[in-house]
Amino acid sequence: MAHVISLLNHKGGVGKTTSAINIGAGLVELGKKVLLLDLDPQANLTISLGIQRQPVTIYEALRGESELVPFQYKQNFDVVTSSLDLSGAEMELVNEPGREFLLRSLFEPIQEEYDYIIIDCPPSLGLLTLNALTSSNFVYIPLQTEFLALQGVAKIKQVIDKVRFRLNKKLSVGGVIATMYDSRKVLNRDVVSTIKKYFGNRVFETMIRNNVALAEAPAQRMDIFSYQPKSSGALDYLKLCKEIEQRCNAAEAAANAAPAKPQAQKLSTVATRQPMDSMPKGTPELVAPRQQAAQPQAQPRQIVDLHG
Ligand SMILES: Nc1ncnc2c1ncn2[C@@H]1O[C@H](COP(=O)(O)OP(=O)(O)OP(=O)(O)O)[C@@H](O)[C@H]1O
Ligand SMILES: [Mg+2]
Repeated sequence: MAHVISLLNHKGGVGKTTSAINIGAGLVELGKKVLLLDLDPQANLTISLGIQRQPVTIYEALRGESELVPFQYKQNFDVVTSSLDLSGAEMELVNEPGREFLLRSLFEPIQEEYDYIIIDCPPSLGLLTLNALTSSNFVYIPLQTEFLALQGVAKIKQVIDKVRFRLNKKLSVGGVIATMYDSRKVLNRDVVSTIKKYFGNRVFETMIRNNVALAEAPAQRMDIFSYQPKSSGALDYLKLCKEIEQRCNAAEAAANAAPAKPQAQKLSTVATRQPMDSMPKGTPELVAPRQQAAQPQAQPRQIVDLHG
């Protein structure tokens, strides 16, 4: 049964699509069978891989006109494509019974065929994203290591919490991916330390460095392993995929070992009263601890709005 992973951040341009493509390609490099699902009406993933408009995209499938028809991009690497038509789907499906579970039911017949299904979410928290969350085991949150990286993260957590308690109790935040990292920049290092304070060991050890090859690969309609397999982008994503494999294997082993919980409903109720994960409360600041220590009286330069 495939591990289903949604790449989610309603902030735009943080590396969701780049990560979806290159995590998918990296897992294929590691011998896995992967399905990528482009759930974004911008269809950036589809376009970045140079896949032409398909007769059946995720749009037609969500409308109930067809089952999912994956396009074989490479051996062991399939893609369910998107198209601009998908931008109308949220409105069109708003009165559809079971509209939050349309994707989940589409996955059912094919889930055994793959080791991993990776969903590239749109930069919004609407019905499409909700469908991704009801279908997933894990959410990975890509965070760009820039100012305001954590802005709006509380909203994502709120949505994930609600989905877990109401619609999909298997869902959890499986990881946080620091993207576009440049170790020479003080700000990038500071942001990473803030992200780690907030998310703890959910942050993957591997950080995705800023690498021009990652930005060029879509223009060549390739993933990074086909475009520049020796680039730092390829090395980073391959290393990240090894971590992903370890985490997924560990989660699977834990789930198989866990005793049956007869009072699952009760446990959920308890959990809703607690903050998700082991995150510290409070508003993280994007000011380097070192800078704060040097100027204890100074006002923090910027505060992240965690309630936005
Ligand atoms: N590690 C990186 N180094 C350099 N450029 C990168 C890196 N990761 C992503 N980019 C570039 O940053 C831009 C935004 O990335 P991407 O499209 O993956 O973000 P996104 O979160 O999917 O955006 P959207 O919210 O619009 O869907 C793209 O031009 C991409 O090529
Ligand atoms: Mg994208």
